[in-house]
This record gives sequence, C-alpha cells and structure tokens, in this order.
Amino acid sequence: MNIILLGPPGAGKGTQAKQIVDLVSIPQISTGDMLRVAVNKETKLGLEAKQFMDNGQLVPDSVVIGLVKERLFESDCDNGFMLDGFPRTVKQAETLDSVLKEASKHIDYVILLDVDDNEIVERITGRRTCPKCGAIYHLKYNKPPAEDLCNCGHKGLSHRADDNKETVINRLDAYHKQTSPLSDYYREFNLLKTIKGTGKSPVQVFEEIKELFSL
Ligand code: AP5
Ligand code: MG
Repeated sequence: MNIILLGPPGAGKGTQAKQIVDLVSIPQISTGDMLRVAVNKETKLGLEAKQFMDNGQLVPDSVVIGLVKERLFESDCDNGFMLDGFPRTVKQAETLDSVLKEASKHIDYVILLDVDDNEIVERITGRRTCPKCGAIYHLKYNKPPAEDLCNCGHKGLSHRADDNKETVINRLDAYHKQTSPLSDYYREFNLLKTIKGTGKSPVQVFEEIKELFSL
C-alpha cells in the first residue's frame, strides 16, 4: 500500500502515521523528520533548510524532492510506504507521480486530515516529542505517563523549535497557499479521502482511517 497523509501543521499526521505503519507494516517517510535530522547534524542541506523551517516557510522543492526520491528506492519501501508531509506543493506531487510511474508504482490512498485553524494553534503549542523514540504527546490531549517522561522510559521531552504561535501562523499560511491545492489535484485522480478531525480524539480519527482501509 502506498499512502499519502495530507493536512495542515498539527493535524495529527505524525500521530496517525505511527499507528498506520504498525497496522500495515510499511515505513513512515516524514520529510519534516528527515529535515530535522539534517538540521541537527548541521549538514549543508540542513543548514539551508533551517532558515525556512524556523520561519515556518516551505523548504524549496528541489531540496525536498531530492531527499524523498532517494528514500523511496530503499528496499524497505518495496512493499509500500506512508508519506507524511510530502508532497506539499503541486510541483512535488507532479514529480512524485513521474518518479512512481517510471518505477511502475502508484499511490493507493491520499488521506486528508482536515482540522480547523483555531484548533491547530492549541495542538501545536502543547506538543511534546520524545527525542529518543519519536513518540508524540500533547500536554492536554495525549498526556505522557508523567511530566517530561516518555513511555519508552526516556526522561526529557522536547518542544520543537517551530512550535510557537508566530511560526504556526506562517506554517498555516504556507499550507493554505501552497499545499491545500493538492486536495483538488488528488480529487481529480479520485484518490482523495477526507477525514474531518476537528474535535475528534486521535483514537476516533484512527478508527475512521481503519474504516477507509476496510480493516
Ligand atoms: P513537518 O514536520 O511535516 O510539520 P507540519 O506539517 O507542520 O506538521 P506537524 O509535524 O507539526 O504536525 P502533524 O500533522 O504531524 O501533527 P502531530 O501528529 O505531531 O514540517 C516541518 C517543516 O519542515 C515545515 O514547516 C517545512 O519548513 C519543512 N517541510 C517538511 N516537509 C516539507 C515539504 N514536503 N516541502 C517543503 N518543506 C517541508 O500532532 C500535533 C499535536 O496534536 C501533538 O501534540 C499531538 O499529540 C496532538 N494531536 C494529534 N491528534 C490529535 C487529536 N485528534 N486531538 C487532539 N490533539 C491531537
Ligand atoms: Mg508531523
């Protein structure tokens, strides 16, 4: 199964992706996570991406497309993959289509997690993540087992550098202008499945995703 998870920042793409990949045994490919690794390692690509990420802007297509192209052809993607946060522009979607076509592959599902802007800010400012295992928490909606403690046993949860009110406004603006046109793009191919996530718990959203897959 080749799946794309679309949605605004903080819609719950990472939260749902982690459960979907466990359910259908495919790797999660998160361009945001890949870029953060490059930023932390201070690679050339990471240093270039950082200025855009810190401002809540999209990293240039050429940089992100290069990253994903390489990743899609690693052997763990032979039986499918779950793209989280890619594509994010029409250019990225068109390039993905042509890369997959060359490899005689195609996208099976595009799931749009649709969440209202006013809920996004609260979700993002309350997010905490485990730097060791990548688990995602929320201080109110998905609490860690104890303050600053992950279920994996790691002490010290992180707050992402771009998870502040000012940057979220820019990220939402980038989403509406550059990414939301992808809904129409995939609707035309009859691939788009929309899940309304506003006011729904992560468990409720996951149940709806399983219904889509008839699982
Ligand atoms: P990226 O890391 O992809 O960030 P994003 O799209 O802004 O999305 P988030 O990771 O913030 O949110 P999410 O939808 O994964 O939500 P989560 O599950 O964590 O990208 C970061 C940056 O990298 C971009 O701004 C850009 O600069 C660059 N970038 C990445 N990909 C790119 C690309 N393709 N092209 C160009 N640039 C790119 O949940 C959020 C919080 O809500 C958590 O606290 C969670 O516990 C909570 N939560 C989840 N579900 C629910 C629920 N149902 N109810 C209540 N709370 C919930
Ligand atoms: Mg994410």
